[in-house]
Amino acid sequence: MGSMPAKIRRIGVLTSGGDAPGMNAAIRAVTRAAVDKGWEVSGVRQGYAGLIANDVVPLGARNVGGILQRGGTILGSSRSPEFKTPEGRRIALRVLEDNGEDALVVIGGNGSQSGAAELMRMGFPVVGIASTIDNDLYGSDVCLGVDTALNIALEAIDRLKVTASSHHRAFVVEVMGRDCGYLALMAGIAGGSEVIIIPEVETDPEAIAAELTAVYERGKPHAMIVVAEGAKYNADRLGHYFAGHQKRLGFELRITVLGHVQRGGAPGAADRLLGTQMGVAAVEHLARGQHGVLVGLRDGRIGATPLEEVAANKKTLDTALLRLAYILSR
Ligand code: F6P
Repeated sequence: MGSMPAKIRRIGVLTSGGDAPGMNAAIRAVTRAAVDKGWEVSGVRQGYAGLIANDVVPLGARNVGGILQRGGTILGSSRSPEFKTPEGRRIALRVLEDNGEDALVVIGGNGSQSGAAELMRMGFPVVGIASTIDNDLYGSDVCLGVDTALNIALEAIDRLKVTASSHHRAFVVEVMGRDCGYLALMAGIAGGSEVIIIPEVETDPEAIAAELTAVYERGKPHAMIVVAEGAKYNADRLGHYFAGHQKRLGFELRITVLGHVQRGGAPGAADRLLGTQMGVAAVEHLARGQHGVLVGLRDGRIGATPLEEVAANKKTLDTALLRLAYILSR
């Protein structure tokens, strides 16, 4: 953990990795809470890539007006291969020091917080804010952006179910999540799906075929299969697997990949509130001289976890919920 000046004068804030609904609420909260303390705020554009390029703008209370309800991030974001190199990180650190930043707030997911941990190890004060629609970040039970992404996925599932029922079809709906099945599991349960496929549990396509046939024989007018993009049998592979012999399933099969549609939505109430609370908490931690931590939601409260602990641990998914989903789909 690096040292922090006795009195903070200026902090930087950046958003990194995949954008997530609620990031703007967090930027606004960080900025206004910092202004309230008499600090200056630098907005770093395009994540770590912008930091390396010294693409920095001053942020005042007025610059963050009217953004609470907007999806994405007004600062822009990126995945920076250069920051993954020691030389890239050295340049980033020099930019922070040359610009007179006393600390940096990093809003983002796994890769972004690994980057924050690297800066911390180089002695620079950082505080992370847990934000990713994938919800795969240790240190936050629910990350910023998850609730909105989940609701967007649900709206799509609800609509597709209408058409599935009208035509007696089975729909495969693929949701994002990278290697994590959280979005698929929760969207599958909340959307009342018949089958959920996640990377954490290997699924045999023949078991899916048997389940679809059973659903058909139970007299259901539709079958919804929610699959995580990171599953071995994702939408594309399932489509190929059943190509040419769909009839045995009982239903005709259609496939929808939701993709980035889930990321770009306007944040709902939960993410506006979460981003706001997380942003204020990040500033409060810095004001108390606490850094090298990730601000997240733990047991229903805003809390902080050391970045080293975040980097060393993998978040687990409650796969027992699959059984619950199975019972409820009878
Ligand atoms: O991490 C968020 C996420 O949307 C993942 O769910 C997905 O796998 C990935 O980002 C897509 O990345 P990109 O926007 O760079 O294509």
